[in-house]
Amino acid sequence: MTTPLPGADMERFLKDALTFVGWSEADATVVRKTAPLVLAREAALTSALYDHFLSMPDSARFFLAADGTPDRTRIERRKHSLAKWLKETAQAAITQDSAYYLLMIGLSHSHRASSPDRPGGTIPVRMMVGAMSLTQSALAGIFAAELPAADALEASVSWNKLLLVHLNALLLGYLPKAHR
Ligand code: HEM
Repeated sequence: MTTPLPGADMERFLKDALTFVGWSEADATVVRKTAPLVLAREAALTSALYDHFLSMPDSARFFLAADGTPDRTRIERRKHSLAKWLKETAQAAITQDSAYYLLMIGLSHSHRASSPDRPGGTIPVRMMVGAMSLTQSALAGIFAAELPAADALEASVSWNKLLLVHLNALLLGYLPKAHR
């Protein structure tokens, strides 16, 4: 059975979470303005993340074929999904659709039953948190390389607010209702 969802309040829930981290229209503008820098490196970003997952047995186990080698077809599909999320994030807008899209992504990690098609089962929370940290670090590196220092800091701050609210949405399925 799946965990009860924040349901009709998902959009409100995420907007409140944004307010809590001090998100403003100025942050949304910064994210949208710097989005082209991020999206131009989308392939490198998603590949780096997946290479990282594959470099350790604990995270590689979710991406292996029956013969124990990396399942390249599935990994390419996963990279494509990650790139879609990155594009969605770059729009810096929480809408009803984007809120449920995020919830769905979270559930496909937190409620993942193990099967021959889905090796490894549930993705551990520590890896979800770790993946968001890796994403933040990668974006900070891009901004530092491409923008004057003050603009790079501003971009990292705004993206970090948004990414952690996304992480909050991705973790909902892992959390008992009382702790959401
Ligand atoms: C920043 C954190 C992450 C984001 C934004 C993300 C994004 C996504 C997206 C958009 C999908 C497709 C969901 C669908 O269409 O059902 C997906 C699926 C998947 N992700 Fe992630 N992911 C993250 C972290 C991770 C981590 C840390 C792992 C494992 C080490 C992982 C492994 C998987 C797997 C195995 C699937 C396929 C799920 C299935 O079997 O249906 N992801 N991810």
